[in-house]
Amino acid sequence: MKKNNTAPTAVPCFGDTKIENHRLIVGGCDAAELAKKYGTPLYVFDVNYAVKTAAAYVNVLKREYPESTVCYASKAFCCTAIYKLLAPLGLGADVVSGGELFTALNGGMDPKKIYFHGNNKSEAEVKYAIESGVGYFVVDSLHELELISKHAKTPQNVLFRVNPGVEAHTHRFIQTTTPDSKFGFSIADGTAESVILSAQKYNNINFVGIACHIGSQIFEPQSFEIAIDKMVDFIVRLNSLGITVERLDLGGGFGVHYVAEDKPLTPEQYMAGSAKYLAASVQNRGIKKPHLIFEPGRSIVGEAGVTLYTVGAIKTIKDIKTYAAVDGGMFENPRPSLYDARYTAVVADKADCECDTLYSIAGKCCESGDILIDGIKLPELKSGDILATFTTGAYHYSMASNYNRNFVPPVVAVKDGKSAYMVKPQTYEDLIRNDVIPEFSEDGK
Ligand SMILES: Cc1ncc(COP(=O)(O)O)c(C=O)c1O
Repeated sequence: MKKNNTAPTAVPCFGDTKIENHRLIVGGCDAAELAKKYGTPLYVFDVNYAVKTAAAYVNVLKREYPESTVCYASKAFCCTAIYKLLAPLGLGADVVSGGELFTALNGGMDPKKIYFHGNNKSEAEVKYAIESGVGYFVVDSLHELELISKHAKTPQNVLFRVNPGVEAHTHRFIQTTTPDSKFGFSIADGTAESVILSAQKYNNINFVGIACHIGSQIFEPQSFEIAIDKMVDFIVRLNSLGITVERLDLGGGFGVHYVAEDKPLTPEQYMAGSAKYLAASVQNRGIKKPHLIFEPGRSIVGEAGVTLYTVGAIKTIKDIKTYAAVDGGMFENPRPSLYDARYTAVVADKADCECDTLYSIAGKCCESGDILIDGIKLPELKSGDILATFTTGAYHYSMASNYNRNFVPPVVAVKDGKSAYMVKPQTYEDLIRNDVIPEFSEDGK
């Protein structure tokens, strides 16, 4: 087979990545050089891309719907530095655990702008959040309401997470579901209404609004419009019961590019479209304009990320496939094995060269299912090549584990041609830091 590794091909480059002289450039830095300097596997994070996207969300929403807050969904990528970047832009934060809350506060996030989500917050987390002065709990159970009431010394603002019966995901047309989600209280069966009414009996619970989150990787603006219709209907219903709704949280879910077929809208289109639709809807129904909250996560940080790997073993199974194994895998990117997530990759120093050889990119974990990309055409690979996967800024570092006692890779921030750690590398000592040999007392206690 004749191969020509210098013929350019059309390679989708996501975020603000570019190709210069066949080499992949992220945040002005040469990806192959970053791999040499910091080692692999390596998460690379383009600071300017995340800041630009977050600022666009804030500005568009301020313009279209001034009574609003953009909260960064911490679950997408949580480390101290991300809040140092986003808080000065005016963003609040959505957190779902004591750990995310601790990190957000450590990064300088104003507790008053924090929305504490989660379907099963522990009593310790509830207490910690109240003591930290968290602005809002997004209540997801009556058990949680009891815990908040037990610990709140002054009236605590709460929203209720409701299930509007709308679910939307990539490439799937909007579904109107039966309310079987573990999240939220169903509007359709009357549960949402009755729990909100029951909250009125606590004099230290201050009901301020309702929240929903209809899915992830949503490309169709109609999904948000359907959710807005359902939420506004519900506000009208609550108003008729004498309950005011000051805040409406519509969650996150804006899509990003993982592969060439993905066609997300721009931040402007997502935000402006939904904000205008809500403003018109509120006006038509003659209800008080609620403070609007959006919680984008993936779309702020997703395309800011690139992961760099070194190719190791290359193995051909005759007449079936060729595996190229990299030094990462499901411990640093569990998304393909969790939900068949798809990715695009390039060879860092042959980024636009002809892709004529088919590979399955395997991880190094002891699981047959640890395949990062099952079938991608690349230039012919050799051990030592640096492979780069795109759109790895969201739900990668935050979902990583030490499975097989691999290291969670460090995160290197890149900006205007400079690079620096955002999360440092782990060491073998880190892996055994909390290990203890159990010692049992003689009396068995
Ligand atoms: C309540 C809530 N808000 C925001 C988000 C962030 O969604 P995305 O990262 O798709 O923008 C999620 C994701 O699960 C969520 O559950």
